[in-house]
Amino acid sequence: MNDRKSWEIKDEAILADLVALMGLTDEEKSAMAACKSAAEAQADPMIEAFYQRLLNQDITAEFLEGMVEHLRSTLKNWFITLFSGEYDEAYVKSRLAIGKTHVRIGLPVRYPLAMMDILMEHGEKVANSQGETAVKAFRKLAALDIAIFNQAYEDTHLNHLAELVGNERLARRLLTR
Ligand code: HEM
Repeated sequence: MNDRKSWEIKDEAILADLVALMGLTDEEKSAMAACKSAAEAQADPMIEAFYQRLLNQDITAEFLEGMVEHLRSTLKNWFITLFSGEYDEAYVKSRLAIGKTHVRIGLPVRYPLAMMDILMEHGEKVANSQGETAVKAFRKLAALDIAIFNQAYEDTHLNHLAELVGNERLARRLLTR
C-alpha cells in the first residue's frame, strides 16, 4: 500500500482538512453563533440527560465517582462553545485535549461515541430555533467533534506504537493489519 496524503495531517491541522471536506461556510458559522443563547438555555436539560444515562450503569458510573458536579460545568462549557461560531485551530486543540483526557482515564472510546445521540437531540433543538442553515451547520460541527474525539484516541495509539517500533510509517502499516 502507498503512503497516503492524509497521514501527513496532524493535530490542529485536521481542522482545515475536515472543514474543506465538509464545506463549512461562513454563513453556517454565523448561523451557529446566532444559536448561542438558545444553547445556554438548552445546556442544563442536555447535561441532565447525559449524566442520568452514565450514572444509570455501573460500567460508566465507575469513571465518574466524586466528579459529577465538576463535570457538569465542563460539559456545559463544551456544549455552549460548540455554538461559538469560531472554529479555529485553538478550538480544535482544546477539543483534542478533551479527547485526550478521556484516553488518559482509560475510558473505551465507544462510551463517548455512544453519548453523541444526546448531543444530537439537544443540539438539533437549539439549531432548529434558527432554521435550516443552523441545523445543517450543527450537524457538521457535531461530526467534527466526533472526528476530533476519535482522532485523540487514534493519535495516542499511533504515537505509542511508533515509539515502540521506532517510526510512524511502520506503525501505520501495522495498524492496517
Ligand atoms: C460526548 C461525550 C463526552 C463529552 C463531550 C465529554 C466532555 C468532557 C469534558 C469537556 C471534560 C473536561 C476535560 C478537561 O477538563 O480536560 C471531560 C472530562 C471527563 N469526562 Fe467526559 N465527556 C464525554 C464522555 C464521557 C464519558 C462517556 C465518560 C465516562 C463514562 C466521561 C468521563 C469523564 C471524566 C471522568 C472526566 C474527568 C477526567 C479528569 O479530569 O481526570 N466523559 N469530559
